[in-house]
Amino acid sequence: MKTKTILLPAAGLAFLAAFSVACGKDHGSPASSAAPPKWTIGVSQCNLGEPWRVQMNQDIRSAAEGHPEIKVIYKDSQNDSLRQRSQIEEYASAGVDLIIVSPKEAAPLTAPIAAAYRQGIPVIVLDRRVLGTEYTCFIGADNVRIGKAAGHWALRKLGGSGKIVELEGLMTSTPGQDRHAGFREGIEGSGLEIVFEADMKWLEPDARREMESALSRFPRIDLVYAHNDPGAHGAFLAAQAAGREKDILFVGIDGLPHEGQVYVKRGILAASFEYPTGGREAVETALKILSGEAVPREITLSSRVYTPENVEAGGEWLRDN
Ligand code: FRU
Repeated sequence: MKTKTILLPAAGLAFLAAFSVACGKDHGSPASSAAPPKWTIGVSQCNLGEPWRVQMNQDIRSAAEGHPEIKVIYKDSQNDSLRQRSQIEEYASAGVDLIIVSPKEAAPLTAPIAAAYRQGIPVIVLDRRVLGTEYTCFIGADNVRIGKAAGHWALRKLGGSGKIVELEGLMTSTPGQDRHAGFREGIEGSGLEIVFEADMKWLEPDARREMESALSRFPRIDLVYAHNDPGAHGAFLAAQAAGREKDILFVGIDGLPHEGQVYVKRGILAASFEYPTGGREAVETALKILSGEAVPREITLSSRVYTPENVEAGGEWLRDN
């Protein structure tokens, strides 16, 4: 990638200036005003309503601190793919030097990301994928592997047979599809049976509502596999309200120190699989790209599992079995 000197069009300058004002110091202005930043990075976050996404932005912010050569600006798409699409178009027409995007859904975000990339703006896609390969680098953990590890964990824990409820993340987003496929692969050919599955769209209230239906239909449920920790927690609350939480194991994904790991410590979740945000790696990769260094097209992050037995010791790295 060639390093470019930015000659912003007037509209772009106005846009960035408006951002600097709107974003304020909380949004990652460089600590020292000695030298103006060389590069502007636009972050498009699909929502900030979930702790994991707040953490991702925080990880980006911490990694960018100490790099006065970059200025990072943030946009929150509020879980709206159309809004996110226009935000990427705005970044592209403002002429930012690089875009970091964590897309809400694969299909609707593919075209604007490809357009910015074709225009010569490097794009780092974080956590959720788009279709095709028109971006500079994808960074994320392997969701199929995590799903498969959760399936194997469930098999070992339940001794090979049992009734399972699967609460899926948004199935138009790739982590939902991959966590589903991986889990199925993990339990294939076993006596574990998925008796109920529903798309809770990554949202705790939806998970709770879906779990209420599952509880009313199935007198026996042994384990809930939720595609994220908010979903697993919502399911737990539904089971608790029905007085059945002690009969069921709850498994989630994310493993944040202040969310999933706390649920494990409190005995609410039997396991939480770590899903690293990739925020730090995105900034490190952005700095390389902006300095003209080659980066891989794909960076895969590793993941741990937290259980009551290992959470105090920092969890256990996933093994391929
Ligand atoms: C937050 C979140 C996480 C999940 C990730 C998947 O929006 O739902 O809980 O692991 O997105 O993209």
